[in-house]
Amino acid sequence: MSDAPKVLFEITADKLNTGLRGFPVGTCRTSAVDPELGVTYVGYPIEDLAHREPEEMVYLLVHRALPTPEELSAFKANLAARRGVDPKVMAFLKGMPKEGHPMEWLIAGLVLLGMTSKTGSWSEDALNLIARSPELIAGIFRVREGWGEPIPSDPSLSLIDDFVHMLGVPGGDPARLSKMLSVFYVLHLDHGGGNLSTFVGKAVASSHADVYASMAAAMAGLYGPLHGRANQDCLALVQRVPSDDPAEVEAFVRAELARGEKIYGFGHAVLRAEDPRARIQYALGAELCPDDPLFKVAVVLRKVAVGVLSSIDKVSNPYPNVDAVSGTLLNAHGLTDPEYYTVLFGLARIVGIAAQIVEERVAFRGGKGVPIYRPKFVAESQPPRRLQS
Ligand code: MLT
Repeated sequence: MSDAPKVLFEITADKLNTGLRGFPVGTCRTSAVDPELGVTYVGYPIEDLAHREPEEMVYLLVHRALPTPEELSAFKANLAARRGVDPKVMAFLKGMPKEGHPMEWLIAGLVLLGMTSKTGSWSEDALNLIARSPELIAGIFRVREGWGEPIPSDPSLSLIDDFVHMLGVPGGDPARLSKMLSVFYVLHLDHGGGNLSTFVGKAVASSHADVYASMAAAMAGLYGPLHGRANQDCLALVQRVPSDDPAEVEAFVRAELARGEKIYGFGHAVLRAEDPRARIQYALGAELCPDDPLFKVAVVLRKVAVGVLSSIDKVSNPYPNVDAVSGTLLNAHGLTDPEYYTVLFGLARIVGIAAQIVEERVAFRGGKGVPIYRPKFVAESQPPRRLQS
């Protein structure tokens, strides 16, 4: 029996400059993404978790086990006691340029949070960030939109109820928004070790930059329209569809493709079937906002776009992903500015990234942690040579 390490992946020259697609570079214990089944959190399929309590799912990712009722109660109290953003951070938000994108505000806000909160402990900073990011993000909404003064956290409320309380959406329905955001939050917590924002967060943390600086880098990655910001473009796409008539939707999709436009919300680098996170959101919309005009369009798009995209040879995955209908749900629940949708994605993903950063910093390799990331780039047509004097 050979004791040679098993070959996981053959790196051939044609695979260079392909964005590390398919390259195994580490391990992940918080979640995994199966191309057909989608994401599991510590082995549990997302379908079984989507409607569980957000704090229970945070516990699952942080501790890699479901809590007992007593453990959950203690964890909720622990997180609630960590809430509270330094007033200097909120004051600084008021000086931010309104022309900045909300994700730029979040990236800056995370650095500010780090300036006022870091403790030097990976796990303490991770839990503090998870507990304080809702207040930071609610403050970004209120200051940038001019909804009024930031609303302080109420530690007697659950994580999402407190977030909705701090948002104070003008004319909103807090109970209805909380119900939708609780599922939205759980669905967006984590998605394997290699999605771009998680990978970037872990890479920066491998230099021993703190959790806050690493998370700011991760959110910069999430800000990209090919990653987290796709949910903003998805709603914009749905809003441009002329009606929910299937024939008109198909004509719209074909015209978009003919113009070389992307059908946002469809396809995925790893998935090769409909993203269960999309399936869960379509079902949630059918329950919470079945008559919303844009949701009706999104439902027709789900069927029609798959049919059209499936007929295109180079399309490896014609199916809806997590972004396909998320913006439509947010819009139907009073969050009508799509520029904030990636910030809400980030609110949830901060949990999975923070959990994975702690894993790599203090658990892996017998507690020594993963060394600083240093992949090799092959020198191309640059043979060693001397500079002629
Ligand atoms: C995510 O949830 O991060 C997106 O599906 C992108 C990805 O998994 O790479």
